[in-house]
Amino acid sequence: MKAEANQNLMEKIVSLAKRRGFIYPGSDIYGGLANSWDYGPLGIELKNNIKQLWWKFFVHSRDDMYGLDSSILMNTKIWEASGHLKEFSDPLAECRKCRSRYRADKLIDSKKCPSCEGILGEPKKFNLMLKTYLGPVEDEASLTYLRPETAQGMFINFKNIIDSFHPALPFGLAQIGKAFRNEITPGNFIFKTREFEQMEIEYFIRSENWEKSFEEWLTRIKKWMEIIGLSSMNVDFREVAAKERAHYSKKTVDIDYNFPFGKEELYGLAYRTDFDLKNHSQKSGVDLSYQDENGNKFLPHVIEPTFGVDRTILAILAEAYQEDGEGKNKRIYLKLSAKLAPFKVAIFPLLANKPPLIEKAKSVYSLLKPHFFVAWDDRGNIGKRYFSQDEIGTPYCLTVDFQTLEDDTVTIRDRDTTKQERIKISNLIDYINSKIF
Ligand code: GAP
Repeated sequence: MKAEANQNLMEKIVSLAKRRGFIYPGSDIYGGLANSWDYGPLGIELKNNIKQLWWKFFVHSRDDMYGLDSSILMNTKIWEASGHLKEFSDPLAECRKCRSRYRADKLIDSKKCPSCEGILGEPKKFNLMLKTYLGPVEDEASLTYLRPETAQGMFINFKNIIDSFHPALPFGLAQIGKAFRNEITPGNFIFKTREFEQMEIEYFIRSENWEKSFEEWLTRIKKWMEIIGLSSMNVDFREVAAKERAHYSKKTVDIDYNFPFGKEELYGLAYRTDFDLKNHSQKSGVDLSYQDENGNKFLPHVIEPTFGVDRTILAILAEAYQEDGEGKNKRIYLKLSAKLAPFKVAIFPLLANKPPLIEKAKSVYSLLKPHFFVAWDDRGNIGKRYFSQDEIGTPYCLTVDFQTLEDDTVTIRDRDTTKQERIKISNLIDYINSKIF
């Protein structure tokens, strides 16, 4: 029963996301491209709000962080040095009968094909790097890879940051950007795709401080999840066993979220030691060591908190999706944190055919527009407009009615309680600001 309810929840989220302009299936008019998704006008607002909040919390509110936006395409030697060309692979098993391919480590029975019961071949290492060729000639020399993590862009800019800013240890680099992986089994909507976005931090420390720093970052990740409204009841911190850890990590804690399809990785925290700086120093011949105030030279170690943007969106949608009421009072609403909601407020004239109401409502719209992303709706009846905004998570709806024309007050309705109060137009900006920021 629970599994069925969860499957329904997933279907409801995918359907709402499409219907209301959050996330559309990719390449749809050409029959689609499996497991690709396009963010619509509301999806991009939600995504940008998450990214801006992340940047504010992890970069702007601190004195030890430096932002970066490095290239997706990089010199292939970087992927040799980082170990990705050799190690970044999943075990792939192919059915000898129907040729279906599976992640061998995720199969319950590693000998039998789950779709046709044919015999599976021995698992082979399948490299997840997506290839492309730069320039007109497709040969070994022009073979390049789309980055599978944003992290390497930060390691290879380590020296640039030291030279430009002379930061004292500990300090971190942060960037948000696309990553690409040729996943064997993409799926579950935006959970596992071949093109996705990451928000990553490489935090450089003295090796002796790694355990303390690791714990501090765990605490910050918890705080971040609180800020975006993910309940701690839905989250597990799981230490990853040595044989499952990425090739660069000495300790990893996965932050698993209770998605409708089961507990799966949302974020990760890894102790990458000096693996990356050491290998890039050796392979590039450029000394990437750090010199402290006493003239001591050494390679800093790294703690890496990593966050998937798309998985954050899926977790937020799953957590926010709510239904209440019965019959024609049944409503769907997204209980999004006001910080994340695409529209902060919607404005309605009570009746669309009364010019003084329209005019007054437009003046309220113009007053608020420079401060917040504001929706306007004058279609249908007011109840339908409320429900329509509830479904996209707009936390406040303002109605301009006949009393507004007399005393310059509007009703403001709260999405979650559906309670209304009257408020002076001159107090609106402060009121909404106090609720949102
Ligand atoms: N730099 C470290 C790194 O890339 P990872 O655990 O492989 O670590 C980091 O990926 C995060 O990126 C994951 O926790 C997840 O949120 C997200 N992610 C990874 N693969 C993904 C995929 N195929 N689709 C969507 N998000 C993905």
